[in-house]
Amino acid sequence: MSKKIASIRGMNDILPEQSALWQWLESRVKNVLASYGYQEIRMPVVEHTELFKRSIGEVTDIVEKEMYTFDDRNGDSLTLRPEGTASCVRACEQHGLLFNQVQRLWYLGPMFRHERPQAGRYRQFHQIGVETFGMDGPDIDAEVILLTARLWRELGLSGRVRLELNSLGSSEDRARYRDALVVYLSAHEDRLDEDSKRRLARNPLRVLDAKDAGTREVLKDAPLLTEYLSDDAREHFEGLRAILDRAGVEYQINPALVRGLDYYGKTVFEWITDDLGAQGTVCAGGRYDGLVEQLGGRSTPAVGFAMGIERLILLLEQQMPELPTPADIYVVSVAENGAEKITALMLAESLRDTLAGIRVQCHCGGGGLKAQMKKADRSGARFTLILGEDEIAAKTVSVKDMRGIIEQQQVAQAALADWLAAHFVSGEVNG
Ligand code: HAM
Repeated sequence: MSKKIASIRGMNDILPEQSALWQWLESRVKNVLASYGYQEIRMPVVEHTELFKRSIGEVTDIVEKEMYTFDDRNGDSLTLRPEGTASCVRACEQHGLLFNQVQRLWYLGPMFRHERPQAGRYRQFHQIGVETFGMDGPDIDAEVILLTARLWRELGLSGRVRLELNSLGSSEDRARYRDALVVYLSAHEDRLDEDSKRRLARNPLRVLDAKDAGTREVLKDAPLLTEYLSDDAREHFEGLRAILDRAGVEYQINPALVRGLDYYGKTVFEWITDDLGAQGTVCAGGRYDGLVEQLGGRSTPAVGFAMGIERLILLLEQQMPELPTPADIYVVSVAENGAEKITALMLAESLRDTLAGIRVQCHCGGGGLKAQMKKADRSGARFTLILGEDEIAAKTVSVKDMRGIIEQQQVAQAALADWLAAHFVSGEVNG
């Protein structure tokens, strides 16, 4: 036998037993997004490498170490998208969706980062992202946060995630702060971990993110970004906090929250859970008013976020909501006689025609009654319809309630749709 080929490390198959939960999650998120009037945008998964370098920043972990970059057959450098914001800005600018307009957009799809795989961290992962354009006030920052808070309620996750907020100020505020931070950290350089020493030289704000205990000790007395905010940035942040307070959304200010992508300014936020170990950030985002211009467009205010679907799935699996099984009705037909098979398939077709939304699985491929009933059981169907020679002759069907509440009975084929409709009330049986 030849050797089997396995999937790439950190890139996962989502199997049928898992996909029901993915669909459940996605449909709830889509409903919430629709309830705020957001529209979907779909972008390619491959872009010019330059796009990510110019937006995420040359001196970030993503661009320095994590991108899947390759030359295509024309010799162009392309990259599998590590995130969606840059692509979304590129697409909107390319198609004239930004100038003098307001956009509220969302996307869903795979992203790629060559990180060290572990639970909650993968090389291909999926994000649902939101990007808004053309609105500069704190009201839209609040709206995207309220949208996420509503989503946690919808998913039953409210008690398991907490919101951290920070303001990074304007780019001028950050430049002044960066200078002060470099002066302070340089004076304590010998106490910093190696990674932070490297960051100090190239992207000092990222030192604030350090996990190393020694570095964290040094950071305790470091100057705070909040002390360097301009009046405009401070007012924006206070405006956002006032709305969140009024709406009853709890948050913690985290002055060390700087995010790993360079395009942010003013508001940044993360929703964090303590139930997933080190990979606790399930949703993250912020304002990026400079990015459109940085990518060649006209200055356009923007704010957005993205959530990691795999991490939300891990949380949901821990509390497992009731999931739909694949079928409501399972049809078995026993004899080898061809007419029975055809009757079974046609009966299933007519039920799908008549009963909107009903999910019917028709047994295919033969097998004895016992084996077919086992399959019916596994399908999770509430009712099994049995078609034998007697039923065919009498134009009836035997209906078996798989939960055993209603006694098995013969129902005329012509009356079957009505019988089922009468016994299902929004998927539940009323008889
Ligand atoms: P990010 O913080 O890089 O931001 O990623 C957002 C979320 O994607 C994370 O909070 C996490 O849930 C998930 N995620 C990131 N990397 C992985 C991974 N390797 N495995 C599993 N999940 C992961 C962004 O991507 C920004 N584009 C968000 C944004 C949109 N900001 C403004 N608009």
